[in-house]
Amino acid sequence: MQKKPAIAALSSMRSARHNAPPVPVVARLSANENPLGASPKAMAAVQDAITNMHRYADPNTMQLRAALATQLGVTPDMVLCANGSDELILLTALVYLNPGDEVVMANGTFISYYIRTQLMDAVQKRIPLINGAHDLDAMADAITANTKMVLICNPNNPTGVTNGAAEMQRFLARVPDSVLVVVDEAYIEYATRSDFPDMIAEIRNGRKNILVLRTFAKIYGLAGLRLGYAVADPDMLDYISRARPVFDVNCLAMVAGVAALTDTEHVTASQLHANQSRAYFQHELSALGLTPFASETNFIAVPIGGEGSDAQIVRAMAERGIAINGLGAWGLPGIIRISFGTPAENALCISVLREVLQQRQ
Ligand SMILES: Cc1ncc(COP(=O)(O)O)c(C=O)c1O
Repeated sequence: MQKKPAIAALSSMRSARHNAPPVPVVARLSANENPLGASPKAMAAVQDAITNMHRYADPNTMQLRAALATQLGVTPDMVLCANGSDELILLTALVYLNPGDEVVMANGTFISYYIRTQLMDAVQKRIPLINGAHDLDAMADAITANTKMVLICNPNNPTGVTNGAAEMQRFLARVPDSVLVVVDEAYIEYATRSDFPDMIAEIRNGRKNILVLRTFAKIYGLAGLRLGYAVADPDMLDYISRARPVFDVNCLAMVAGVAALTDTEHVTASQLHANQSRAYFQHELSALGLTPFASETNFIAVPIGGEGSDAQIVRAMAERGIAINGLGAWGLPGIIRISFGTPAENALCISVLREVLQQRQ
């Protein structure tokens, strides 16, 4: 069978999953998960709903969209739920991008953007980061008549760095109405700056070319259950919905999401934990002579010097049971990313990293 060249060039997600680590993982600090676990209220809701598993879930996720709409100050038709926000990235690429369309994004941002744009045979215009943050002025400069979409990750995965409201406003003022601006806010609940941009207010005020993506996988601890959502103009969400599987959000994820939204105690504890872990890693990494990026998330990225060094360090850490990420494939060679774990996992990670760096010298 003839393969599409753009898809044949991608690596298979299936084989990636089957690559066994060299030794059992002792600390999994590679996927930006919540080390406190899932929201207890969500877990209780899932237990209550388990007897309904033989029924298809509500394909319109009415209850969750209503709860989100109330929380966000929008109407339910401005919310679309999906099987993880990654599904929304895929669907958005699918319904908007034709081969050859230009998509402006950062060089050093969420790897899914590279994969989905390549899947559609779109042209990636990757703009270098400045100190780990999107260079929004340069991204606006890069927009041409062929640009269909701009992808912004704020806070940015994998650096954890944020862009503020003033620069975002300056950027939005330069984007033509015909260009879709996707703002992925998967880590917004961790952001600490007071001038973090309010993109949902833009949508509330009638902006039709902004799509905000969020997830229950991070602060709410529901990564394995799969639940994300988009906020945008209702017509845009109707259009994106044409491509989605009818029954994508499962019945357990839906009730878990509704319950998690009410679990302010778990959210506050998760924020506190991330703040403490960040301070710990900033201090310890600096003591190792490294200069981490100014993260506002539940992970931290740090240059460790030299192209290919990230893969070496990741391998050496994996051989000692610590799973972290190397960012070469994300466009940031020589940089590693560590997700925050429990205090014990964090301490173990630092002591193993110290040993690995010493052996490298
Ligand atoms: C920036 C960003 N967007 C989206 C996602 C996907 O989240 P989900 O688990 O909801 O698909 C992730 C997951 O790591 C992420 O880091």
